[in-house]
Amino acid sequence: MKKKVIVVTGAAGFIGSHLCESLYNDGFEIVGIDNLITGRLENLASLLGSPGFKFIQIDVSEPVRSVERGAWSVEREAEVVAVVHLASPASPKDYLAHPIETLRTGSFGTYYALELARSSSARFLLASTSEVYGDPLKHPQDESYWGNVNPIGPRSVYDESKRFAEALTMAYHRKYRVDTKIARIFNTYGPRMRLEDGRALPNFFSQSLKNEPISIYGDGKQTRSFCYIDDMVQGLLKLLWSGENEPINLGNPEEVSILQLASEIKELSLSSSEFKFLPPAEDDPSKRRPDISRAEKVLGWKPTVTRTVGLARTMEYFKSIIR
Ligand SMILES: NC(=O)c1ccc[n+]([C@@H]2O[C@H](COP(=O)([O-])OP(=O)(O)OC[C@H]3O[C@@H](n4cnc5c(N)ncnc54)[C@H](O)[C@@H]3O)[C@@H](O)[C@H]2O)c1
Repeated sequence: MKKKVIVVTGAAGFIGSHLCESLYNDGFEIVGIDNLITGRLENLASLLGSPGFKFIQIDVSEPVRSVERGAWSVEREAEVVAVVHLASPASPKDYLAHPIETLRTGSFGTYYALELARSSSARFLLASTSEVYGDPLKHPQDESYWGNVNPIGPRSVYDESKRFAEALTMAYHRKYRVDTKIARIFNTYGPRMRLEDGRALPNFFSQSLKNEPISIYGDGKQTRSFCYIDDMVQGLLKLLWSGENEPINLGNPEEVSILQLASEIKELSLSSSEFKFLPPAEDDPSKRRPDISRAEKVLGWKPTVTRTVGLARTMEYFKSIIR
């Protein structure tokens, strides 16, 4: 019998490493691909060296090497059953530091990953983002909303690369009948986030645990909805094996203001930090909450980990890396 292989791009990242572990535990062989631009090999510590797990350090936006099955070291006798395309800088700090790489990964990288899926007759999952909704004029955001994105602002390198990636994915589905899935991922958190990745949640932990001033951009009334990583992995797996081809929101609909989140993290960390209010970030969305009705209906999925539990687990991780 042929080995069943799943190719995961962005494998050494925060979400990718958790997903690889889960797929591996489900009995699949994994080819993990990453150029380590924002990922870290230590995220894959539990898998590296294991039989049936192969890590390849390459840039998915580079042609020749990426597009050929052989170049991604998928053996001839193996059957690639799925390509999960997570590669992309994801935090604003990362994509603003790597604007061209982000656009290349969303465009060329998505094209090569789709080509691999097409040539292998494998299903394909794109990690898209709530950022395709931009600064939404509709609240909460359901999948039918087309978004409010500034196409030339600094954040456009990420938003537009993901919008292009979605368009390309749907084109492969329509033209070549590739069994594609699009996950519109909302803010996700948990162990293996980088403390210095610039996102609000790790920033608040870093500053609270070090008793440094906690930076709040704007008045802190802007809202976000945070999904714990274990819930996100379950949602991605359900979507991957579903028959769904239209985009699906994955996230936790429980909305919280940034100031409230900072207060919860400060309290949890028993911190003496004070809040420091700074000018708002450019094009920072004022509200963000997924409407997950479709995920509930089509996938039978909804998050189960409460913020209290998720934040406590995340704090233990951050404490372990600060010390
Ligand atoms: N974490 C979130 O809250 C969130 C929200 C929405 C969408 N997403 C999406 O989920 C995916 C994973 O995000 P994450 O939070 O794990 O980010 P991450 O930065 O931890 O992981 C991304 C991984 O992709 C790799 N990568 C980037 N460009 C590459 C390239 N050209 N070739 C090979 N590897 C490349 C990075 O090195 C990194 O390991 C991304 O596509 C992101 O846009 C994440």
